[in-house]
Amino acid sequence: MAKTLDADVIMQHATPLDRQQAHEIQPYGHLVKMPIALDESACEESVENLNQLLADTMALRDLYKKHHWQVAGPTFYSLHLLFDKHFEEQSGLADAIAERIQALGGVSLAMAHDVAEVTLIPRAPRGREAAPAQVSRLLHAHQIVLKEARTMARLAGDRGDDGTNDLLVSSVIRTNEAQVWFVAEHVVDIPLVRAK
Ligand SMILES: [Fe+2]
Repeated sequence: MAKTLDADVIMQHATPLDRQQAHEIQPYGHLVKMPIALDESACEESVENLNQLLADTMALRDLYKKHHWQVAGPTFYSLHLLFDKHFEEQSGLADAIAERIQALGGVSLAMAHDVAEVTLIPRAPRGREAAPAQVSRLLHAHQIVLKEARTMARLAGDRGDDGTNDLLVSSVIRTNEAQVWFVAEHVVDIPLVRAK
């Protein structure tokens, strides 16, 4: 006699298993050993530094989007476009830093509430600021990132973590320096029409 098919059992296989909960597989601040021929202590130091840099990079990234939306004045169009370009570049840096943390066996920060707790970049107001104040705020944030990135790069090189050193020097430092140039030139007080 042929078996009858139980519709409920069949449908169970096609039903999404949502509302699942479980323990974390790796707590924040704990490293797994990755086979990359690098001392665990070197990985640990790099992960800790990179998470600080990640928090600051994500705060700077979001500062660019805020300014992209809220900018006003005669330089609106160029700043609106420039701020978004820098937002995209900072997003790329955040991704590279976070993935480096994972590659070293760490856990990267990810969420805005965690970033807010860790970042060294001063909290911006919710309201709008004039373009020169936006620019000054960005330049200050860039300097925080550049200062720590240079120190972290030297330390990573000293402990043999050349991959982290390369990421910091070739990507983070070079990109931030170039962005500072493009932003800083907007607050040079030169005459618009008649040369003095
Ligand atoms: Fe936009």
